[in-house]
Amino acid sequence: MSRIAIGSDHAGFRRKQEIREYLVKLGHKVVDLGCPSPERCDYPDYARKVAESVAKKRCEKGILICGTGIGMSIAANKIPGIRAAVCWSPYTARMAAEHNWANVLCLPGRVQSTSQVLRVVRTWLDSKPEEGRHKRRIEKISKLDIQRC
Ligand code: RB5
Repeated sequence: MSRIAIGSDHAGFRRKQEIREYLVKLGHKVVDLGCPSPERCDYPDYARKVAESVAKKRCEKGILICGTGIGMSIAANKIPGIRAAVCWSPYTARMAAEHNWANVLCLPGRVQSTSQVLRVVRTWLDSKPEEGRHKRRIEKISKLDIQRC
C-alpha cells in the first residue's frame, strides 16, 4: 500500500473526494492537500503542493484533478523529479506507469464518469515501472531536470 498525495482545484473537487474515498477503501494512506471546498481557486497552487510532496518523498505518488487534467500536468511537471501524466483510459494509465514511470497521475473532473476515472486510478496503481529501455529514457528525462536547475 502506498502513501498518496491528492489535490484538485474547484473543477476536480467532487472527483477528488470520490477518489480519496476509493483509495482509503483500497487500503492506501491518503494525504489530501486541498482544495478544501468547491469554491473557485487556482490549479497551480495545488499542483505545486502535491508535486512537492512527491518530489520531497513525503508521499510515494500523487493524484491531481482539474477540469481536464491538463493544467495540473503542465504545472506539476515544472517541479524537478516529477513525471506527471494525464490519463484517460486503463491503457494510457498502464503505459504511464510502465513506460513513463509517472509518479503523478492527472485526471479530468469534467470529462469522464466516476467509474471511468476510478478504473484509470486502479490500473495506474496496479502497474509497475518496466526497466531496460524505459529506465534509460527516464534517466534522460532526469538529466533534463538538471539542465533546468
Ligand atoms: C477551471 O475552470 C479549469 O480551467 C481548470 O480546472 C483546468 O481544466 C485547467 O487545466
